[in-house]
Amino acid sequence: MTDTLDLTPQEREADLDIEQLKQLVGLVEYDETKDPFPVTGWDAIVFVVGNATQAAHYYQSAWGMELVAYSGPENGQRDHKSFVLKSGSIRFVLNGAVSPDSPLIEHHAKHGDGVVDISLEVPDVDKCVAQAKAAGARVVREPENLTDEFGTVRMASIGTYGETVHTLVQRVVDGQTYAGPYLPGYVAKSSTYEKREGAPKRLFQALDHIVGNVELGKMDEWVAFYNRVMGFVNMAEFIGDDIATDYSALMSKVVANGNHRVKFPLNEPAIAKKKSQIDEYLEFYNGPGAQHLALATGDILRTVDELRANGIEFLDTPDSYYEDPELRARIGEVRVPIEELQSRKILVDRDEDGYLLQIFTKPLGDRPTVFFEIIERHGSLGFGKGNFKALFEAIEREQDARGNL
Ligand SMILES: [Fe+2]
Repeated sequence: MTDTLDLTPQEREADLDIEQLKQLVGLVEYDETKDPFPVTGWDAIVFVVGNATQAAHYYQSAWGMELVAYSGPENGQRDHKSFVLKSGSIRFVLNGAVSPDSPLIEHHAKHGDGVVDISLEVPDVDKCVAQAKAAGARVVREPENLTDEFGTVRMASIGTYGETVHTLVQRVVDGQTYAGPYLPGYVAKSSTYEKREGAPKRLFQALDHIVGNVELGKMDEWVAFYNRVMGFVNMAEFIGDDIATDYSALMSKVVANGNHRVKFPLNEPAIAKKKSQIDEYLEFYNGPGAQHLALATGDILRTVDELRANGIEFLDTPDSYYEDPELRARIGEVRVPIEELQSRKILVDRDEDGYLLQIFTKPLGDRPTVFFEIIERHGSLGFGKGNFKALFEAIEREQDARGNL
């Protein structure tokens, strides 16, 4: 067994340790030498937004992220501006068109704000691309070296659901680790934004999972894609009645890379009386795409209090959820009194391995598409299966208010 539980450079820089990460995101040991497509972890989540300049401010002021790098017309990048923000071990990259003929404009007109690239760090891009090709994947960018004064990275991209891609980033090339602030072409950039007095250093430490919404009947195809192309393993499965309400229903399966740093639940709509939330997403995103990003925190109470103070809106949970004797019996003892969760509308779920605390935001942008989850794991490697019904009922109330139910 190779010791694969080394920290990634991003995690080390964020002062995280292995024990913390096992708890935060359910990291596990595995044998990388048998993996046909080894993935170290997330490299960055790349968004296209309508206004990256303003979105960069929002992710700092509302989400407590730190601006670390930038590329734009001043750096020879004529077409678009690109802001890189960090929180703990995760990077978000926000791209917005500058030039009126930028291809980002067409993308944004079609999909609205959303995730275009779930970029993964890999130790060997060429090995991954060879495996992807052998398994019939769509390679949208062949392996190439990018170099600047900070060194070289090797990159390639493969297509996944909809217009979403996975860029594979190899940060150690010929024994040299790339030393720049993000990728070649980016310069270090900080911000004059100052956090409120007493605000925590950060509101989340890592990314736990990203959910993909795909069309009816396509979920198993994409599960098979991640199995066959990327060697991902299947985790928990939720099917049919587990996650149905009177109106909304969906099917969901979860795949993960070997060390479980990267977890992808995949949803498809199921037949129900009215339009499911997945159908609403597919309509407004104009096809399949990333639905929610789960941000891991070690203190969800503090994170939620801070986010609310920053103006972030969460889905509501009725008091009946907390007063339900069946739920109370099922969840048992958690680290805080249930009243503390109730006052913040935080959901709780327990399985054979432990429990988790979670809450979901309302959609982040104008369209009812991408949103965030805040998650605090205590042993549970699940995704809150027991909460799906309560959650969906909350989403349906919102859908109804939008006239989309
Ligand atoms: Fe989730």
